[in-house]
Formats: sequence, structure tokens, C-alpha cells
Amino acid sequence: MTEIDKRARRIQEMFASIAPRYDLLNHLLSFNIDRLWRRRLVGRLQGVRPSSRVLDVCTGTGDLAIQLSRKCAVVGVDFCQPMLVIARDKIRSRRLCDRIAITGGDALRLPFRGGSFDAVTVAFGVRNLENLEQGLQEFARVLRSGGVLAILEFTRPAVPIFRELFQVYFNHWVPAVGRAISGREGPYRYLPDSVNGFPDQERLSTLLERCGFCEVRYDNFSAGIAALHLASRAGR
Ligand SMILES: C[S@@+](CC[C@H](N)C(=O)[O-])C[C@H]1O[C@@H](n2cnc3c(N)ncnc32)[C@H](O)[C@@H]1O
Repeated sequence: MTEIDKRARRIQEMFASIAPRYDLLNHLLSFNIDRLWRRRLVGRLQGVRPSSRVLDVCTGTGDLAIQLSRKCAVVGVDFCQPMLVIARDKIRSRRLCDRIAITGGDALRLPFRGGSFDAVTVAFGVRNLENLEQGLQEFARVLRSGGVLAILEFTRPAVPIFRELFQVYFNHWVPAVGRAISGREGPYRYLPDSVNGFPDQERLSTLLERCGFCEVRYDNFSAGIAALHLASRAGR
């Protein structure tokens, strides 16, 4: 097993260990703002029609796929089965089985033919990829020319004072509350560490351009706690 495979396995096991508490902690730690951010992503996804095919990568427990399904049919893919079990239960209980298909798969080797989607979305997923560039190239591969990519990810707030206050919350309170509720130390320590080590908005934009995207733009959400990058698949 390569180092990359080992890291992927660790990420998979980490999400498996918190899957039953994932939604609760998400909404609690973000004061429910995560729902608003996903709704905004869906609202900004232009050119998506009822007949469009949308792929939600790193779909996890399916919250974004469920929101997207109001616009069009969605395929959700993730490599963590316990997260997908929860996604499938939620989809069934909302009677959305005819709108959302959930499948297991690795974001770095997506099980789809080239050019098969009109849009690809990823919420809080790219930060976890073992090889970000390979992931972005894979998103470009499965998108048709002109198709849209939307990436929602945590970032580091730019506004002084707010940034310092937020860092105290994110680096200390989030791991403590996460540990108390999930019973796990690692995952909620990993959360701030992975955000702190992730490219900022400008660097991610540059990387997107290098990986086959054009018209790259981003919006900061909630004073820069999160950012939404939108980009179009450049012509082949
Ligand atoms: C923080 S959760 C985000 C879930 C969901 N998108 C949301 O908005 O709540 C990250 C998800 O990415 C998945 N993931 C991480 N790396 C992956 C990879 N290489 N391939 C597929 N899924 C991956 C994890 O299994 C996990 O479900």
C-alpha cells in the first residue's frame, strides 16, 4: 500500500468513526450555518436545468445532494460506506430515491465516463483529498466542456479580530465539543488542522486554472469562514 493509499484509508476510517454523529455535530458546531452555505451553493449553480446531470463528490451523508435534488437529478459519490448508509436512509425517508443515486467511489478515480456531467459539486470534501490536483483533474475529466464546478470549503477569515476570535473557537472549542459528542479525539482535531493546511482562495483559484478550468471566481461566506469557488470546464 502506498503512502497515499494509507492516508486515504485513514480518512475513510475517520469519517466511518464519526458517521453516526456527523450531521448533529455539523449543525451544532456551525450554528446551522452549514445548511445556509449549501443552499447558497445551490442558488449560485447557474445553467443547471431539471434535465441536467449533477455529480456531488464526497457526498457524505448527502445533505448537499438532497438540496441539489430540488433542481435536478443527482448522483452522490463517496468512499466511506457508513456515511453513505446514512445518506441512503435520509434519501429514502424524504422519498427522493428517484432523484438521487448514491454510489461508492474514490474522488481520485471517479467511476464515470469522461464528459458525463453538466455540473460537479463538492462541499467540505476537497480538503480531505490525498492529492488535490489529481482530484481537480478528475472533476475536469467527468465534466462536459462548459460544465460547472462548485467547491464549498472552509477557509481562514481575513478580517483581523474576527479572525483571532474565530481561531480560538475553531482550534480549541470545536475539537473539545467534537470529542465530547463523538467520543473521538482525532477527527475534530483534524478539522482545524486540515483547514489551516489547505490552500487559500487565491491559490485554489490558480490550481483550478492549472487543472483545466476557466472563469474561476469565488465568494467568501460568513466573513471568510467558508468560500465558494465556481469554475467552468475549459473546452477540450
Ligand atoms: C466533511 S465530509 C463532507 C460531506 C458532505 N459533502 C457535507 O457537505 O457534509 C467529507 C467527505 O468526503 C469523503 N471523502 C474524503 N476523501 C474522499 C475520496 N478520496 N473519495 C471519496 N470520498 C472522499 C469522506 O468520506 C466524507 O464523507
